[in-house]
Amino acid sequence: MTEEPKPFESVQKRILELKKKLKAVIVAHNYQRPEVQDIADFCGDSLELARKCTEVDAEVIVFCGVRFMAESAAILNPTRTVLLTEGSAGCPLADMIDADDLTGWKERYPRATVVCYINSSAAIKAESDYCCTSANALKVVESIPNGDILFIPDQHLGHYVSTKTTKRMILYPGFCPPHRRLKPEHIILAQKAHPEAKIVVHPECVAEVVALADAVLSTSQMLRYVKESPAKVFLIGTEEGLLHRLHQENPEKSFYVLTGGLVCPDMKRTTLESVLKTMELRRNVVTVTEEIRLRAKQALDRMLAVS
Ligand code: 13P
Repeated sequence: MTEEPKPFESVQKRILELKKKLKAVIVAHNYQRPEVQDIADFCGDSLELARKCTEVDAEVIVFCGVRFMAESAAILNPTRTVLLTEGSAGCPLADMIDADDLTGWKERYPRATVVCYINSSAAIKAESDYCCTSANALKVVESIPNGDILFIPDQHLGHYVSTKTTKRMILYPGFCPPHRRLKPEHIILAQKAHPEAKIVVHPECVAEVVALADAVLSTSQMLRYVKESPAKVFLIGTEEGLLHRLHQENPEKSFYVLTGGLVCPDMKRTTLESVLKTMELRRNVVTVTEEIRLRAKQALDRMLAVS
């Protein structure tokens, strides 16, 4: 008697068939749902995904992530079709600055070099000198020969970098709502329960949280840190989707998210069904006007050259 296919399995099978038909590659951010990460050809942090998208020779890039990430793929690889698996998956942090806000800040600090976090729209990247991710923000800032840095839009990543550089940094007041939920009290409580654990947090966390951590890292840097560490227990201060790869790649180690609710609702919009529908309909094609793309690409290229 043959077994009825489980719903996940039949959807996965259809996605894989369509992938062949469309000559597509599926890429996913480390915060995606476990079953979505599992059907991806490549999972990574923002820097790895941006790099990957300069390399793929597939005709279609199916992007399981949020809009600014898919836009970066479209900016870096304009000859490919980029499909965002959920059209409404945005980033509240990226939405905290628009072109008018940035114009005002540039008028206040006309001599500053503008470094924008990759969590920003294509229009913001186009008005910036350099782009950066959480994995290379310090390297990018240090590579800039002289003068002040206007860092947009994440104040916490900017503040963390400012503690590591002698450069004067002007910080735009944006923040990531899920990372801002994490408070020092959560760390103190979790540490009481797991005194032997290493504490690893994302630099989008507030300074008081960063101060209590053993390591402050991008999501893929966290994966490497955990693999190389002799420690067995880790308290994780980032979106809970990262736990999937942490468990998969380190079955002998234990992981606890530092507090409940470290969830990015936009990252969770993508489901296996939405991946399938996106591929079936070739929907949510991400495009950037050529005028913006060329200027935004300069900021991304400068980042990729540095890191
Ligand atoms: P990473 O680049 O560390 O994966 O972070 C992406 C992000 O959007 C964090 O909120």
